Amino acid sequence: MPGTRLRQATGKTIAAVGAPHAARAGIVRFYDCLTGGASFLDDCVRGLSLPRKSLAPKYFYDEIGSQLFEEICDLPEYYPTRTEMAIMEANAAEIARLIGPDVELIELGSGASVKTRLVIGHARPALYVPIDIAEGQLRSASDALAAHFPWLNICAVRADFARPLRLPSFIGAPVKLKVVYFPGSTIGNFTPAESIALLRGVRDMAGTGARLLIGVDLKKDKRTLEAAYDDAQGVTARFNLNLLARINRELRGDFQLSRFRHKAFYDEDLGRIEMHLESRCAQFAHVAGRRFDFAPGETIHTEISCKYTVEEFQALARRARFEPQRVWTDPDGLFSVHLLIAI
Ligand code: AVJ
Repeated sequence: MPGTRLRQATGKTIAAVGAPHAARAGIVRFYDCLTGGASFLDDCVRGLSLPRKSLAPKYFYDEIGSQLFEEICDLPEYYPTRTEMAIMEANAAEIARLIGPDVELIELGSGASVKTRLVIGHARPALYVPIDIAEGQLRSASDALAAHFPWLNICAVRADFARPLRLPSFIGAPVKLKVVYFPGSTIGNFTPAESIALLRGVRDMAGTGARLLIGVDLKKDKRTLEAAYDDAQGVTARFNLNLLARINRELRGDFQLSRFRHKAFYDEDLGRIEMHLESRCAQFAHVAGRRFDFAPGETIHTEISCKYTVEEFQALARRARFEPQRVWTDPDGLFSVHLLIAI
């Protein structure tokens, strides 16, 4: 359906760009829903003008940032990815049994879609809808999945899933149930209040009876957590600093990366990791012709990564009208995968 334009109830228009794939590999359709709303430039200028400067973590994920994140996932200190993967491997058959066949599997922040392979292979959904902000990775991950599962219908949606999104109704697929998959503890990038609002939006999009399958990183000792966000090889530092490099590339920025240092610490009271970029000296930098001043030691807050106990997360989900159905953890209690029902 190249060139097809779907009109959403909100009045926004979605362009279906990119043709269905040729024979053998599964069908991939690509929808760009990243139209309107605040831009990278607007958000940067607003964030850097605040008394406490901040930038949103979703902007980490340009091509280079997505690549660096994949490297983080393989670091010895970064336990979440392999732990979640192990939980999924151990329980994929049970998960598939609990959600049943003929589901529409919607994935928020699909990234490289690695863990999704397990879910797709076991549950054999009628339709897979990966939603991500990073176009290149969304396309390459979708193509790889289509090659691996030639029977799978894929409708890839480029969008910011934290913004209200009305998905097109994909008529034709025999869908019995919507399952929203939100792996990777991406939910940790939002405060508890934001997470409730986000999950309420997910709940309204998916409807009563829908399932939510979500990976949530667990609270643990400060040392383990801080090592995971400040690795010995400095990959996380490069990931964080890439945000300034991206501003330089895309927004006519002139940040000198060597004048900033990566900082990550666990705030036990708030139960979250904070990542910052700390100015090593008094300096200024420009973004699209605007000047921003930095005092020595001043930081740009770039990310939070909230950690929960199983019970804390279940209480949060209940406030978004999701009833816990089942929860799986690893033997060391590092990470959790929750299955919940929208009531
Ligand atoms: C993709 C948001 C889950 O918070 O652990 C990894 C991102 N930042 N190392 C996380 C991240 C630094 C990651 N999430």
